[in-house]
Amino acid sequence: MKLIHNSSELVTTVGGAQRGHTLGALQIIPNGAVAIQGETILEVGTSTDLLEKYPVAERIDARQRSIVPGFVDPHTHLVWAGNRAHEYEMRLQGKSYMEIMAAGGGIASTVNATRKASLDELVAQAMERAMRAFAHGTTTMEAKSGYGLDLETEFRQLEAVLEINKAGPIELVPTYMGAHAIPVEFKGDTAGYTRWLCEVALPETKTWWLKHAPGQALPFVDVFCEKDVFEMDETREILQTARDLGFPLKLHADEFENLGGASLGAEFNAASVDHLVKTSLEDIQRMAKSETVAVSLPGTPFGLAQSEYSPAREIIAANAFLALATDLNPGTTWNESMQFMQALATRYMKLTPSQALAASTINSAKAVLRDATIGSIEAGKQADILILSVPDYRILTYRYGTNMVADVIKKGKFYSQE
Ligand code: NIG
Ligand code: FE
Repeated sequence: MKLIHNSSELVTTVGGAQRGHTLGALQIIPNGAVAIQGETILEVGTSTDLLEKYPVAERIDARQRSIVPGFVDPHTHLVWAGNRAHEYEMRLQGKSYMEIMAAGGGIASTVNATRKASLDELVAQAMERAMRAFAHGTTTMEAKSGYGLDLETEFRQLEAVLEINKAGPIELVPTYMGAHAIPVEFKGDTAGYTRWLCEVALPETKTWWLKHAPGQALPFVDVFCEKDVFEMDETREILQTARDLGFPLKLHADEFENLGGASLGAEFNAASVDHLVKTSLEDIQRMAKSETVAVSLPGTPFGLAQSEYSPAREIIAANAFLALATDLNPGTTWNESMQFMQALATRYMKLTPSQALAASTINSAKAVLRDATIGSIEAGKQADILILSVPDYRILTYRYGTNMVADVIKKGKFYSQE
């Protein structure tokens, strides 16, 4: 048994994911402590009470620093090979992200590199990013395929996710995203590729998964719903097929144009709809009437040097669930830090520090359907906890571009980052 004690404050949410204006309701225990039994949180209280109650527990001194829940990053494209620094330079010279993609660059250039990479190379490159995220406080991270598009490479990406997950300590939540772009083999034939995804790739992915990850829940299926990529009809077809096969769903929508994807995601009960920059009020209201979490990725407009971010105030006012994620990927946003996303969200989406924290913990846990077991420091939950290097959790958003996580506790095990 372990006891983390002598914090400046223990900061958590209680009672589950937070809709609308309940976002950011925190429980703050001055001089808080947490007792851990194995991988699980046993009790939360003040240091005085818990030191007295558990005198023989192994002690971890929080040194008058802040304790917060481990961050959950519910949207990443973790597994890829190479980089696209040359495209960043093209964007600086005035080419847009979608122009580069239409000219055969963008996602397609990472697909080329990823197809050529071995499993070991993919694991090595993704592991480095996963460990960087872990050092910055991400204890659970969603990870998508989508840089293979053919079966062989997509499965190699999923295999890399399984390997990293097995190695730990970070926990990965897998997503199959064959519907990320139209591969060159289909020469712009979106309808043909959509048919192949529904008739061949999705059923084959299920078979592959049951064989290679027996006993593990099916991965999410995600679709890049966007003008000139998968538009509404194709997205509906893919979501419908995936749902019929039993896959849980996610969706990319409204990154560049509004097609109504957020409403579609809510209609399909997707765990989350992500990006949500060009989202209409009607779409927001549809999400608010569902359990679908609105996931904002502020690193993406920042990475693209765009001035428009998710309409967070409207999402909150409509009573929807709002969460944050990095969108870690080689095109728009190569950043592993949920701390930086919180700093961006307070500046450009006008979240308060407490809202940014809840959106990065309990609500982002709901976006990967894990809010019952992670995302807060409560008795019975998995012991995924951070000790910050600072005494006030609000410093996490006030400062930025630097790591303010001192120690990561994952499933009850202690990993110092200092
Ligand atoms: O979420 N929009 C689609 N996918 C990623 C970008 C992927 C890439 O450019 O490699 C995103 O922003
Ligand atoms: Fe994405």
